[in-house]
Amino acid sequence: MQKDNRVLSPEQVALQQDYIEKNRVFYLDRLKRQPLGCVVTFGCQQNEADTELIKGMMVDMGFALTETPEKADVLVFNTCAIREHAEMRALGNVGETSHYKKANPNMLVCICGCMVQQQHVADKVKASYPYVDIVFDTHALWRFPEFLHERLSGSRRIFDLSGDERGLILENIKPVRKERPSAWLSIAYGCNNFCSYCVVPYVRGRERSRRPEDIVGEAERLLAQGYRDITLLGQNVNSYGSDLEGCCAFPELLRRINALPGDFRVRFMTSHPKDATHELFDTMAACEKVCRSIHLPVQSGSDRVLKRMNRRYDSEKYISLVDYARKLMPEITITSDIIVGFPGETEEDFEQTVALLEKVRFDSLFTFIYSRRKGTPAYDMPEQVPRDVKQVRFDRLMELQNRISWEKNEKYVGTMQRVLIDGISEDKNYELSARTEGFKLVHLRGDRSMIGEYADVLIERNSTWALFGRMV
Ligand code: SAH
Ligand code: SF4
Ligand code: F3S
Repeated sequence: MQKDNRVLSPEQVALQQDYIEKNRVFYLDRLKRQPLGCVVTFGCQQNEADTELIKGMMVDMGFALTETPEKADVLVFNTCAIREHAEMRALGNVGETSHYKKANPNMLVCICGCMVQQQHVADKVKASYPYVDIVFDTHALWRFPEFLHERLSGSRRIFDLSGDERGLILENIKPVRKERPSAWLSIAYGCNNFCSYCVVPYVRGRERSRRPEDIVGEAERLLAQGYRDITLLGQNVNSYGSDLEGCCAFPELLRRINALPGDFRVRFMTSHPKDATHELFDTMAACEKVCRSIHLPVQSGSDRVLKRMNRRYDSEKYISLVDYARKLMPEITITSDIIVGFPGETEEDFEQTVALLEKVRFDSLFTFIYSRRKGTPAYDMPEQVPRDVKQVRFDRLMELQNRISWEKNEKYVGTMQRVLIDGISEDKNYELSARTEGFKLVHLRGDRSMIGEYADVLIERNSTWALFGRMV
């Protein structure tokens, strides 16, 4: 156990502040207009939260933000490495920038995030994408202003993957958050679990917890700014604090946030089942601001596969957790992740996953086709499952889960739900989108001025993916 995690120091922040000023002046002099910055994000909420920090640094440097990559003077791709598909998409997007640069020769193209943390990908970018200016890893995120300054001062292309400040906790950088009422709040970085298929511990490093007082302080500021739905982020929130001497455990952190004044909701993700305790569920049940909703990835219903995945629980333990949670909180929504086609997964293993889905009946499910990740133990496992077999299994789970999701949603029809209106509906027949406590998406009619407010809603109909309601 380590005494304290190393936090980005005020000196380091001040040094970057210096680069921020220099870059601001540089752009004003050169462009005679406000520069435009764009960040394109791939991957999970952790990356979204990092993007908010990069945007914060851009705004400090005098940039206006745009969602249109080709217009940007500085374009950053914040990438993901979790599956091959995520990497192909990111590299495809990076490839497009050679055209953008012809129209705007001043444009700087940067890549950061988990994908370029892998040496073999960074090498590929260096060799095959000559129009990429700056590449830096997740550990060097806070040095973005410095890298920009170096490149603007005529340095050669920058590839900074040294990770010399590995594992710093980034306090004191102001994020540009998404619009109210929902916000991400990182509580821990990295992961110690080394599931045998997963690249995250290699690219994000060991688990580092933020200090509870920093987290609670940030939550207070968010509430003061009008945020009403806070999602605590970590690869495994249930092991929060185990790396910090004298730190509280996750349930206690939930209780402290729950005790803050105000009408708000707090959620968290992700929970690893091996570390999900009865205390966690007892706390959820006792804390009125903690949503009765949990994402609890099971990955497989086969104990043999779970063992080879290094998940360190079996299906019996998983089901007993779900039973306990539902006994305490019958209305709790439970969602999960499944990987199909893990090396060596037989028809029988797969049938056990199907049986688990039938038994547990998740509210919704993210199903992934296993993707081989270089450097992970599963990469070298024999018996890789053929692509067409994986696809058949994937399709079968989708079909099964779609039916279950529909049936679960149908049960809400005719009920009253308290929802938080969080944005504009993507369904053209409705104006507003909202979330129930259990994070079910609800489409509503109403005025945009209601975004950020709670409403009592009668659910009138459902689909597989959403509920449709009317304010009463
Ligand atoms: N820390 C979280 C998961 C983060 S990754 C947890 O343990 O629950 C999100 C999901 O991606 C995982 O739950 C898993 O289902 C999936 N995933 C991770 N690595 C994968 C791989 N190599 N191939 C396919 N899916 C993968
Ligand atoms: Fe990956 Fe497992 Fe860590 Fe989740 S807990 S990030 S799946 S290694
Ligand atoms: Fe992807 Fe990195 Fe998240 S690999 S899923 S962006 S931690």
